[in-house]
Amino acid sequence: MNFLDIIKTRRSIRKYIQKPIPDEIINQILDCARYAPTANNKQPWLFIVIKNNDLKTQIAELTDYGKFIKEAYCCIAVFCEDTKYYLEDGSAATQNILLAAWSFGIGSCWIAGDKKFYAEKIKELLSLEAKYKLVSLISLGYPKENELKLAQKINKKELKDIVKFYE
Ligand SMILES: Cc1cc2nc3c(=O)[nH]c(=O)nc-3n(C[C@H](O)[C@H](O)[C@H](O)COP(=O)(O)O)c2cc1C
Repeated sequence: MNFLDIIKTRRSIRKYIQKPIPDEIINQILDCARYAPTANNKQPWLFIVIKNNDLKTQIAELTDYGKFIKEAYCCIAVFCEDTKYYLEDGSAATQNILLAAWSFGIGSCWIAGDKKFYAEKIKELLSLEAKYKLVSLISLGYPKENELKLAQKINKKELKDIVKFYE
């Protein structure tokens, strides 16, 4: 898949098969996260990979719209130090993770973290220092058959409705 195809065919996948993702691939995905831009090049991130079933289930149960995290092979919790642009910095890294994962055929879903009532609880569960803010949770797993087809039915706005050129 070329880069544009990766961007255009990525969709949120919430159902997975029980096939392990090699650590080598998880590391390559995380390596792409650290190439994301950050304000003043602060790189305030902390990426936590949760494979442990008990922890995954506890995280899933804390969320409102992320119960499927427990069926994912792993969950990446994206935290940032509480800097001025932590949310933008963590979000750019999150998007890199989603795209890098899809380049390996791995499905993912961005689950809200920042502003959510469970953000602090997840931080406590993972015993993190106070200076961190939860930006996102990302579920990762090889997609269940047909999930991609279903997900691709999601409607995207037409370019003409969201773009203006000033020439
Ligand atoms: C900031 C943010 C928060 C999101 N939170 C959730 C969530 O809590 N649960 C979920 O199932 N999907 C969540 N999503 C995924 C969106 O529902 C999804 O991206 C959107 O429906 C478009 O579908 P697509 O990703 O397949 O293009 C979130 C996406 C973003 C960007």
